[in-house]
Amino acid sequence: MLLCKKQAKKGGFMGRNIAIFASGNGTNAENIIRYFQAKEGEIQVTLVVTNRQEIPVFERAKRLDVSCIYMNKDAWTTGEEVIRLLHERKIDFIVLAGFLARVPDVILQEYPRRIVNIHPSLLPKYGGKGMYGDRVHQAVVEAGEKESGITIQYINEHYDEGDIITQYRCPVLPGDTPEELAKRVHALEYEYYPQEIERIILMQN
Ligand code: GAR
Repeated sequence: MLLCKKQAKKGGFMGRNIAIFASGNGTNAENIIRYFQAKEGEIQVTLVVTNRQEIPVFERAKRLDVSCIYMNKDAWTTGEEVIRLLHERKIDFIVLAGFLARVPDVILQEYPRRIVNIHPSLLPKYGGKGMYGDRVHQAVVEAGEKESGITIQYINEHYDEGDIITQYRCPVLPGDTPEELAKRVHALEYEYYPQEIERIILMQN
């Protein structure tokens, strides 16, 4: 918070509005919203956008007083309606947190190096279309891997192929179930994703 305020005073940092894109449970979305709310700084999550209705992330955002908006398949196909919403809300930075649809090209072009994603494996392993959430952990356990982790990356037009920003690792223990591994990987996500988002945003200003 100190850093943000100091920069704001110098006139070098104007405050940043983050939009989170999510498709399901939204535990990462909630964790990221809480992180920035607790700091009371210039960076805040001001919008959550989903591609599915009736998913738990709506309730999580509502509890934290952040507006959460569903956009239908057409909106995600062209991207135009989503872009309009992002402009209307003065969104500077986009965070994918369990977002399972493709981000339309118009949004990629509008937000170069300003869209980050988290993937629950050490990419390039266990990534690509159809590899998400518990499917990833299942595949990692079945392959007998000794370690897994998280990848934080910029996104591009191909699933899970954007430039990697950083990775954090955890062990896969003998006898682990996919659920046990998922818990360990989620713990890494909760600890590191918000602070990496903050670091990237501050670095860009
Ligand atoms: C997270 O583990 C995230 O890394 C993963 O989906 C989960 C969403 O959980 N994302 C992907 O697999 C993207 N390819 P959450 O909805 O509780 O945050």
